[in-house]
Amino acid sequence: MGRNILKDDLDHVARQILRTNDKGGYTVPTSGLYPYQWNWDSAFVALGFAQFDESRACTELETLFDAQWSDGFVPHIVFRQDDPNYFPGPTVWQAGSSIPTSGITQPPVAASVLNSLWSLTSSDTVKDRLAALFPKVLAWHRWFHRFRIPKDIGAVVITHPWESGRDNSPEWDGPLASIDTSNLQPYQRCDLNHADADMRPTQHDYDRYVALVEFGRGAEWNHRLIATEGPFRVADVGMTMILLRASRDLAAMARILGLDNELAELVANTDQLEAGIEYLWDQSAGTFCSRDTVTGLHSGLISNASFLYCYAGVATDAQHKSMAAHWARISASTKFMMPSLDPHDARFDHGRYWRGPIWTVVNYMLAQGFTEYGLAPWATRIREDSAALIREHGFHEAFSPLTGSGTGGKGFSWTAAMWLAWCGNR
Ligand code: DGY
Repeated sequence: MGRNILKDDLDHVARQILRTNDKGGYTVPTSGLYPYQWNWDSAFVALGFAQFDESRACTELETLFDAQWSDGFVPHIVFRQDDPNYFPGPTVWQAGSSIPTSGITQPPVAASVLNSLWSLTSSDTVKDRLAALFPKVLAWHRWFHRFRIPKDIGAVVITHPWESGRDNSPEWDGPLASIDTSNLQPYQRCDLNHADADMRPTQHDYDRYVALVEFGRGAEWNHRLIATEGPFRVADVGMTMILLRASRDLAAMARILGLDNELAELVANTDQLEAGIEYLWDQSAGTFCSRDTVTGLHSGLISNASFLYCYAGVATDAQHKSMAAHWARISASTKFMMPSLDPHDARFDHGRYWRGPIWTVVNYMLAQGFTEYGLAPWATRIREDSAALIREHGFHEAFSPLTGSGTGGKGFSWTAAMWLAWCGNR
């Protein structure tokens, strides 16, 4: 009984967070730290809204795709107004046309969300709106294939760590090391006004993030040029697994909508990405991980993104066996699962963003993959830990896998959405 009252209270708080962060058709991740619409945040947020307002869930995706460029690209931030409390804002990026945007993208979870919203709804009006989004999502997937999946690699290449959504993962330390920051213009970080410095990326990393934005702006956001000559070109394990999954989900939508040509195209894209997964397997570390396409070096790191292989539905028996050994070791040594970095790695930092903390949206994808892969105990551990973190510590941006304490922003939209759509929904 007590537990149900608590669940109802948390449901109420989660809905309140989404409503408070709703700025009129789009939702900010959290006020202060992130005052605009972020791409994959919005997609996850739509899953939360769908639990109590299906129409509003559609609107979240529609407003994101309103900012789509004519070549299919969907930006990682949509700037509907200028907010001096965020850096780098629209005047720094100088990208987008009718709506100012950033010039880089983010993990394409939208297709999978579209598919989930379709399964949830019985409303024809909502289905019509979701069907209208299908060609836009497909155009974005085509953009990835055109610009970001080199034929000889087959995996998704990112051109800025922010594209991965896992901004300061140590997977990027090696590739970032050679970025030239000598011409960097002076700038003022705003994130440290809203979150503790020891929970955020370091100044060393930030300088490189900004230098990469300046490179893109200098290239006038020419995606071909940035993808072939940019200083940061890394095949991202998270992005690749997510696009592979999204392609399968979009193919399922094409099947439902009776779109045979699109279905054939998506099946071919899925096959191509599946073949590319091999590029991301590091035999010596026995893990899936990101790989610098400039040097050919694997990161060799075991992260929460490595385990998305189940969500993507890939891996040989031997690869799965190796990953299962990592799971056993990591799950025995952390109080909560799944840390964003192997806690046995020297760079593990339990409170610093993507170098240790747990992210409920990644947990959601992991649990879905584990269930489908027949790994029910893994899925249960992930879901129960996620629910416990929120129950005991609140709706934080991320959580320490060692103590459970919250890190980053508070009143966070995607954590609220994950509570409503997934871990609190039992
Ligand atoms: C930030 O500003 O920290 C964002 O993560 C960039 O997308």
